[in-house]
Amino acid sequence: MKDFSLGIKGFNMVAFWTDLVKEIWKINGDLAQLDGEYDLNFSFEGDVAAVLKVMRVGCDENFIDLQTSALQYLSEQAPSIPVPRVIPTSKGELYLSVTGPDGESRIVWLQEKVSGKTYANFKPQNLPLIYNLGEVVGSLDRAWLGFDHAGLVRDFKWNLMSAVWIEAELSVIQDDSRRQLVTDVLSQYQRIMPELASLKQQAIHNDVNDYNIIVSGSLTDQAKVSGLIDLGDMCASPRICNLAIAAAYMVLGQSQPEQVIEALVAGYHAKNPLTANELAFLWPLLRMRLAVSVVNSSLESLQNPEDPYITISQQAAWQFLEENKVNQDLLISRLRLVCGFPVTESAPRIMRWLDNERGNFAPVLGVDLADASMRSLSVEKSVCPQNPFELTGKEAEELGGNYLAEEGVWLGFYNEPRLVYTDKAFRKGRYKASNRRTVHIGVDAFGPAGLEVCTPMAAAVAFSEYRSDYLDYGGMVILAHTTEEGDLFYTLYGHLDSESITSLVEGQMLEKGEVFARLGGLNSNGGWNPHLHFQLALTTKGIGDNWPGVADPDELVLYNSLCPNPAALLNLDDDKTEYQGTQKACVLDKRRSHFGENLKLTYAKPVMFLRGWRHHLFDEWGRPYLDSYNNVPHVGHAHPRIQAVAADQLLRMNSNTRYLHPAQTEFAEKILSKMPNELDVCFFVNSGTEANELALRLARAHSGGKDMVTPDHGYHGNTTGAIDISAYKFNAKGGVGQADWVQLVDVADEYRGPYRVDDSRRAQKYAGQVGDAISRIERRGGKLAGFIAETFPSVGGQIIPPKGYLSEVYRRVRHAGGVCIADEVQTAFGRLGDYYFAFEQQEVTPDIVVMGKPVGNGHPIGVLVTRRDIAESFAKGPEYFSTFGGSNLSCRIGKEVLDIVDDEGLMQNARLMGNELINGLKRLQEKHALIGDVRGCGLFIGLDLVTNRETREPATQVADYVKNRMREKRILMGTEGPTDNILKIRPPLTIEALDVEMILTIMDQVLDEARSLLSR
Ligand SMILES: Cc1ncc(COP(=O)(O)O)c(C=O)c1O
Repeated sequence: MKDFSLGIKGFNMVAFWTDLVKEIWKINGDLAQLDGEYDLNFSFEGDVAAVLKVMRVGCDENFIDLQTSALQYLSEQAPSIPVPRVIPTSKGELYLSVTGPDGESRIVWLQEKVSGKTYANFKPQNLPLIYNLGEVVGSLDRAWLGFDHAGLVRDFKWNLMSAVWIEAELSVIQDDSRRQLVTDVLSQYQRIMPELASLKQQAIHNDVNDYNIIVSGSLTDQAKVSGLIDLGDMCASPRICNLAIAAAYMVLGQSQPEQVIEALVAGYHAKNPLTANELAFLWPLLRMRLAVSVVNSSLESLQNPEDPYITISQQAAWQFLEENKVNQDLLISRLRLVCGFPVTESAPRIMRWLDNERGNFAPVLGVDLADASMRSLSVEKSVCPQNPFELTGKEAEELGGNYLAEEGVWLGFYNEPRLVYTDKAFRKGRYKASNRRTVHIGVDAFGPAGLEVCTPMAAAVAFSEYRSDYLDYGGMVILAHTTEEGDLFYTLYGHLDSESITSLVEGQMLEKGEVFARLGGLNSNGGWNPHLHFQLALTTKGIGDNWPGVADPDELVLYNSLCPNPAALLNLDDDKTEYQGTQKACVLDKRRSHFGENLKLTYAKPVMFLRGWRHHLFDEWGRPYLDSYNNVPHVGHAHPRIQAVAADQLLRMNSNTRYLHPAQTEFAEKILSKMPNELDVCFFVNSGTEANELALRLARAHSGGKDMVTPDHGYHGNTTGAIDISAYKFNAKGGVGQADWVQLVDVADEYRGPYRVDDSRRAQKYAGQVGDAISRIERRGGKLAGFIAETFPSVGGQIIPPKGYLSEVYRRVRHAGGVCIADEVQTAFGRLGDYYFAFEQQEVTPDIVVMGKPVGNGHPIGVLVTRRDIAESFAKGPEYFSTFGGSNLSCRIGKEVLDIVDDEGLMQNARLMGNELINGLKRLQEKHALIGDVRGCGLFIGLDLVTNRETREPATQVADYVKNRMREKRILMGTEGPTDNILKIRPPLTIEALDVEMILTIMDQVLDEARSLLSR
């Protein structure tokens, strides 16, 4: 920071400038000095919020005149553009020369303060924000088209049009490879210079960097640019330079720079349409800006060798230049497309020509395909592969079914999302839930190995190769074709017989209909069921001879344009080969019309899942999600053993408990083997709700009472009786209210409840409330039937009660003649890692245990286990029967689930992974003040989010933000608790270490975002 005193000892500078503002602008307020490289900047808070700029001695007046007039021009011509306004003096001047306290003359001016944060300090730097920045920059350039000023013509180091100055300074870069890199960037720039020089020049900002962009946003509103500041580098230059400079800053540190540039350019183009010609300059200019930047700072560090900041600030630029991972040709295609231009100039002509010629091409497989059947391999319609992370050899060999001669050739769809591409090469990140390429952008033709492959029209062989990797193409050929109008396009043929293509040479001409290859068998086609992969490309720029045959569903705009549906070349209608999956929007509409409104969907943007595997789910496009939320698929989604026993039983019969069946007793034996000896009678029902209803009846039958005691905010089911004991529902908005036979006690929550972790008698105090409730029942003349609680309250906020709590509660309840019911619907069967049931942690044996959800792994099963004497009391009443409870099918599934937990060591996995997750979350808690409490046991985990650790103010909006952002980043989790501020994590028990790492990494990022959005 500059010397604030201007060298005058004991002089009150703030008072001086404050008085000056008062005198010149006739406003009152307080000044505070801000950072500034050369000038004095003060923030002014008072009658207005402003920034006072006191320029350095000798500052060129023309330069200030340029900036102030440019801003003034905007406030008159385009007031909606977010730039700070100049506040004129009381006499109407935009700036003024004054004599400072040191007797020197300085120019002063006052600018409105823009509210928000610098982009550099803002998170998330997401695509909608970058699009908005593009809009702002576009609007600005458009508005300044009409602005002129003598000061705009500046030949200085930051004008990209004169950036060639770095050529003479390259020796400052010591590292040879870095110097070579910058030399290359410079040559590319020099090649475009002549054309660039012919572009119209206009006033541009010229320095849209992270610190000159002010952003404001909140947890609930998408952030927007609230101001572009600092016109210190303004000059006249082509507008594409302005955009390229902004792009150069936006890409740094971003994992998907192409998308960032796309968003920025799309926003710009929407406000200030670009020409296709200009787009081609963007990339070389972007790199040139970074080159200027690194050369400039290398020079600066020569002058200030002690200043490490200079080098650090250039790291990101070097990294971006060195990584060089943007495919420049594809980038141009992307930018053309987002601006509404065809992918190439010739693309529309080629497509028109192909359409006209449809029907006249030679048959590629020698047969007419008009009646060929279509078979789907889609995420929605096919179950291949069973494991979407690993296609087996057998599945590849039998893909789509075995070929039957009488069927002729059958076809696979274009644009079909498939899960068969399981190799890591299709994945775009470290995790199983990272984006992956799933959408097939060719047409498949399945036929017998050896079938002849012909060229649909005259061609030149462009490329042929044998790709020997397993599940690659085997033999593959690319042919080049020319339309009658002279436009070049290409076709690709994959999975060919390797022998059949050995004689092909590049450039070899083929006549229409000429046989040039044969379909490969398993040994030469990459190991697939014999078929031809047939693909069209309108250019090979950017893809060379390595065409992606499968694209990321989020990049289809590019790949569908580059490689459109090749149906015309097969003499087929596009509709025949174009995949049409079920549209999510359509399902959503139908859901709205067919179901009631209180059937809620999770997430602001709902998801549709069509496949699952272990702890991952896949949406209709095959996008994978890590499921850290669903506790029903206890042993994992789509477990093959469950599928096998269900299929087997359905082949046999399915009936109820009125007949003998070994599956029922075997399931009972399995469950009872996990229970304390006293609990020896099972009841089978269909759901947790039904089990709790039954538990109520048993308790009443046994105790002779009706009244129940239960903790607040509990949930036990959705039927009338179950809701009466579920405060979470009866006390909810529009709920039925509390029944007179129900007494509530506090949840034994040692973080938020009345008795907290620092109170050594908290367990007894919470239990004491049950004693009070029993007294209330006695006072109202009722009789206690029992106590029911989720052993670890889940909807109450993933709570682990203090040890000793339930033993004291049970003692009191039993003393009053009541029955103790443990609702273990959420917690049973090994989820807790150290305990098979949660009541074990509390060292109690309940009188009744209720189980549901996970025991069927998705199949509807509920179970109640109790003591013989209680069952006998109940048996004194009418016959007990539940049609579907104890069906043979359900019993076999239930037993299989419990066997899998044992066989696969899932309880142990829950302990290991749960500890890893809980410890990791505790580490995050040290960094993020938003995490008030981390609690859990095994894979039953809660994260209590707070806006203030002292007051424990629930951070409900943050929790909602985190849940939705985690979903956008492909992780499912929920929110819970009375104020919905608790993140609930309870994945299937199959979760692995890398998934835990993903949760922790993404959670860290998302909490950073939330913190940034909350702070001012
Ligand atoms: C603790 C608890 N008990 C009972 C139920 C009701 O089970 P179901 O939905 O199977 O009827 C639930 C459901 O979420 C629950 O969490």
